[in-house]
Amino acid sequence: MSTQKKNQNEERVYIFDTTLRDGEQAPGASLNTEEKMKVAAQLEKLGVDIIEAGFPAASPGDFEAVEKIAKTLKKTVVAGLSRAMRKDIEACAKALRSARRRRIHTFISSSDIHLKHLFRKSREEALAAVADAVKCARNFADDVEFSAQDASRSDLDFLCRMIEAAIKNGARTVNVPDTVGYAIPTEYGHMVATLKNRVPNIGKAVISVHCHNDLGLAVANSLSAIRSGARQVECTINGIGERAGNASLEEIVMVLKTRHDLYPYHTGVDTKELYKTSRLVSTLTGFMIQPNKAIVGNNAFAHESGIHQDGMLKYRQNYEIMTPESIGVPESRLVLGKHSGRHAFKKRLEDLGYNLPPEAIDGLFAKFKDLADKKKSVYDEDIEALIEEKIASSREIYQLTYLHTSAGTTTLPTATLKLKKGEEESEEAATGDGPVDAVFNAIDRATGFKGKLENYALKALTQGKDAQGEVTVTVAVNGDEAHGRGVSTDVIEASAKAYLNAVNKLLLKHTAKSAKAAFDIQKGLKL
Ligand code: KIV
Ligand code: ZN
Repeated sequence: MSTQKKNQNEERVYIFDTTLRDGEQAPGASLNTEEKMKVAAQLEKLGVDIIEAGFPAASPGDFEAVEKIAKTLKKTVVAGLSRAMRKDIEACAKALRSARRRRIHTFISSSDIHLKHLFRKSREEALAAVADAVKCARNFADDVEFSAQDASRSDLDFLCRMIEAAIKNGARTVNVPDTVGYAIPTEYGHMVATLKNRVPNIGKAVISVHCHNDLGLAVANSLSAIRSGARQVECTINGIGERAGNASLEEIVMVLKTRHDLYPYHTGVDTKELYKTSRLVSTLTGFMIQPNKAIVGNNAFAHESGIHQDGMLKYRQNYEIMTPESIGVPESRLVLGKHSGRHAFKKRLEDLGYNLPPEAIDGLFAKFKDLADKKKSVYDEDIEALIEEKIASSREIYQLTYLHTSAGTTTLPTATLKLKKGEEESEEAATGDGPVDAVFNAIDRATGFKGKLENYALKALTQGKDAQGEVTVTVAVNGDEAHGRGVSTDVIEASAKAYLNAVNKLLLKHTAKSAKAAFDIQKGLKL
């Protein structure tokens, strides 16, 4: 097993994270501005080189998110995507104007399929559009990236001409995406090698790759491209993205680290932040991570069979090629129990990185005591869930005051609950085809909201029969959707909290919309 020693002469592979742009394009993954800012802050901590924060011309929401992220990030380059069109590039430049370090990323397709059936342009017209777009972008930023969409299905000679034109007009990074996830590793590596050999000015730009995972080859293709000379990889946390997703950032970074013998390059990523970043993206998007997902799945470091466990005890490297600590998997330590005092609780909060004012600690300590009465062992994950709930509840329009359910094999499942909205309280009861359905129906009645449940998932937050359940839901109304999360030792209560969390987000979203749109939606929501 190799360890990564940083050699000063070693080349760097730049990590371009597109979780907030391509990742967010995954059906059902939409994030609000505040959530995007949280992800961006964590990506900066992770140490990625470039964060593609969105597509400013696509919607006012995207514009706002890029603008706010650009204002807050300190060292990471913030990129915005734009079609090869003046109005997109101007929107991008405007959204990025307060960034300390900005990049305009502009694209047009290079494949005949796209040029004919998507852009309705000839090859010559496309080359002219590349030159205009890159020149225009250079008026607003020194750092300009050009992408030849669908590069992997393009005529190689024409692709070389397009890349040459982009560099000639000022692109510093040239990206050749496998947009539809069609390429295989040898072929994709060959494409990058051809650019290196044939494009006369290629030395003036960094070659970037951007692979989709339709055939499950996104990571393999990216790695093959690195061996052929690509020095920027575009990827997303947990591999989320359009259709089957993008190349997974954590997998690429850990291959570079673990197989440093074959990939003698370094990145700026602090791998100890990978697990935390993956969890954050999963929680905020509502996309659960499959247990066997490489690097960040729950089973990625679990050794189940007797032979493997025995082998691990004898010598860890018998079955372990990287350690859970290297990606920052927290040791699920038993931290506190019902006899723990405020002092121990405060110390644990500090160890977890939360320096909170005394009033906040008091509130959390009371919640911790309630929890410790319900479950014997309180883990770090439980404490973090309490903090997240406290932060979320301060913004919730509706809060859950109480909840009762009755269900069983011979009774009609019924839920009774009370919600609070400012000074107003509403109490409702409803039945359903199970206790969770009854709770959701009662919430709909109490809020006058008619949400459609698109997705529901339940998992245990920690080990043990008394573990808290974590419920994530996706709720849709009038074409808008939001994710909600709730945690409790009682899974019905966790479900209620998750559903209410999503409803509150939708209400906030709608309140922020224009007066006419809000009016139309309010009619539907009976606010
Ligand atoms: O997949 C793709 O081609 C893209 C480009 C816009 C970079 O996402
Ligand atoms: Zn893409």
